[in-house]
Amino acid sequence: MKMKKHILAAALLIAASQPLKADEGMWLPALISQRIGDMQAKGFQLSAEDIYSVNQASLKDAVVLFGSGCTGELVSDEGLLFTNHHCGYGYIQKHSSVEHDYLKDGFWALSRADELPNPGLTVRFLERMEDVTDIVLKGYKPARMSEDQRQALVKKNAARLREQAVKDGQGLKASVEALYYGNQYFLFVFREYRDVRLVGAPPSSIGKFGGETDNWMWPRHTGDFSIFRIYAGADNMPADYSPENVPYRPKKSLKISLAGVQEGDFTFVYGCPGSTQEYVHSEAVRYIQDVSDPEKIALRTTRLGIMKKYMDRSQAVRIQYSSKYAGVANAWKKWQGEEKGLRKNRIVPVKQDYEGRFEAWARGTRYEGLTGRLAAVYAARNPIYRAYEYYNETVRAIEKLQMARGRGGDLKDYYEPIDRETFVALMSAFDKALEDSYKPAYFIEKRALYGTMEAWRDAVFASETEAKELAQALEEHFQQNLVPQVSAFTASLNLLYRDYMQGQMEFEREKTFYPDANLTLRVAYGHVEGYRPADAIYYRPVSTLKGIMEKDNPDIFDYNIPQALRDIYAEGGHENQPVCFLATNHTTGGNSGSPVLNAQGNLIGINFDRVWEGTMSDLVFDPEICRNISLDVRYILFTIKEIGHADYLLEEMRFAE
Ligand code: ARG
Ligand code: GLU
Repeated sequence: MKMKKHILAAALLIAASQPLKADEGMWLPALISQRIGDMQAKGFQLSAEDIYSVNQASLKDAVVLFGSGCTGELVSDEGLLFTNHHCGYGYIQKHSSVEHDYLKDGFWALSRADELPNPGLTVRFLERMEDVTDIVLKGYKPARMSEDQRQALVKKNAARLREQAVKDGQGLKASVEALYYGNQYFLFVFREYRDVRLVGAPPSSIGKFGGETDNWMWPRHTGDFSIFRIYAGADNMPADYSPENVPYRPKKSLKISLAGVQEGDFTFVYGCPGSTQEYVHSEAVRYIQDVSDPEKIALRTTRLGIMKKYMDRSQAVRIQYSSKYAGVANAWKKWQGEEKGLRKNRIVPVKQDYEGRFEAWARGTRYEGLTGRLAAVYAARNPIYRAYEYYNETVRAIEKLQMARGRGGDLKDYYEPIDRETFVALMSAFDKALEDSYKPAYFIEKRALYGTMEAWRDAVFASETEAKELAQALEEHFQQNLVPQVSAFTASLNLLYRDYMQGQMEFEREKTFYPDANLTLRVAYGHVEGYRPADAIYYRPVSTLKGIMEKDNPDIFDYNIPQALRDIYAEGGHENQPVCFLATNHTTGGNSGSPVLNAQGNLIGINFDRVWEGTMSDLVFDPEICRNISLDVRYILFTIKEIGHADYLLEEMRFAE
């Protein structure tokens, strides 16, 4: 007996001291020295200083926040930048017209003078990041200050820090971000460039190949890239657009590797993941899995069904609604994978068990009872949060009501029959799902007056006044009733999470925690690997041009490739041209466009998606099934050469090996 216990203890000790097997985590570059040992053990050949340094050029200087929610990377010493096609989409669209349909046909600037400016588009380089917790909390007296006073103090101290940080620098921007629910604060200082021009984009039949059908899926064959160039003033500093501006000379640009990837190869992703919730209570997960995801999925299934019916009937409507359809379908598909993954891994009972062990450990400490208090806040919050989500997914998704409030809605892309049918479906769902206490009095009155949703719909679509009154009544109720309540609950949750986070860190001392994603620069590392989506199936991690030809079908919009690609393939020799690959890097929305690098820090691909079965990684990372999807950099080069005939772009790139 005694002996067995010893063996177990020894085994646990060994397990704890070994590098984590799972490739979970999104790490802060400035603290990467904490992970560098594990990275090197897994194959990484560079140092922490190569990833992040304020004294010398490092990889961070080749990575940018592109626009407001994507990542991009520098691939030449003349400011050339890669990101995803879906990140550049809006800009490509703005330059498109019937005569020059760059979305459909692709775009390749033939000279620097042909590169197209994009007012409003910016990129941000991280100058430095530092732990400013002590400064932000200076003057904080936990025993004597309320949470509101703490918030006010944090705001004041952070504002001063930001002001100092941007003082004498051109284009400097600063932000102070709370990590671990405000247990730690970091200052981020960026340099923002605002003359960013479009250089190249493949036709959508390559850049968006597979469309919604393949989105979040493997095997994948999307050439999801676009190319931009950053311009600067003569002093290499940020400048407003001017024909006089010159290509930006980066401190660092990435070398491109042509060596390709093999299963098992070390990879890392350097980018700006948007949002995760890895340390939440079981009740938060239960709500997402049992209420939020299923209800939102059902509502969107209805919306997508209506859109699709009309899009299938008319090419014109398909063009009008394809972007809206993509937006609705993207989260819809992601939630399906998330719900399934949470159930399959029994995350709710696993978290409940963890909470039981946490409470046993916490007895007698200041952490005692925290998990119960969190559960109580969720119990009070959930019905209100559900109503809040319902408003967003129903009444606020009806175009007529949005337009009546002067919002959204380009009439060029509006097709009323879709909206009329959507109105009846979504308003009925809203009415049925929520108790009357969540609805404005106006709604209840009119509902009685009209009797049926169809009659009410006819009135709303016949009279602007009727539309406006309904839209305003609903929006007012939403803003005045639900929004403040939801914010109050969020504040109480955050307060409890600040302690719970600290408690979890003390409870699991041997574990290295990473902060939840918040669009700040992170490093995720892992390796190339396939996965098993279901019994008896193994997905290999590399897709090729052969797979594109297998999917090619001129009758299916998503799979209709350019004739040029068919012709090149017919010449032979391109069967094994790699297109996309899977790896175990922990990524999320915002990582789109992120560079995927090999053990030597050279560019092997661009991240653009995850597999839908693994989207639960925003809550829990399951190494068996969570995979990021990257575009192989060699397919980018192939497309530039063979489809764009823009070989001259390759001349300014640098190649490894
Ligand atoms: N799923 C990817 C992401 O979350 C790609 C979305 C754009 N592509 C699309 N087919 N909708 O952003
Ligand atoms: N396509 C996503 C983006 O735009 C990345 C996919 C994900 O990991 O959520 O950031």
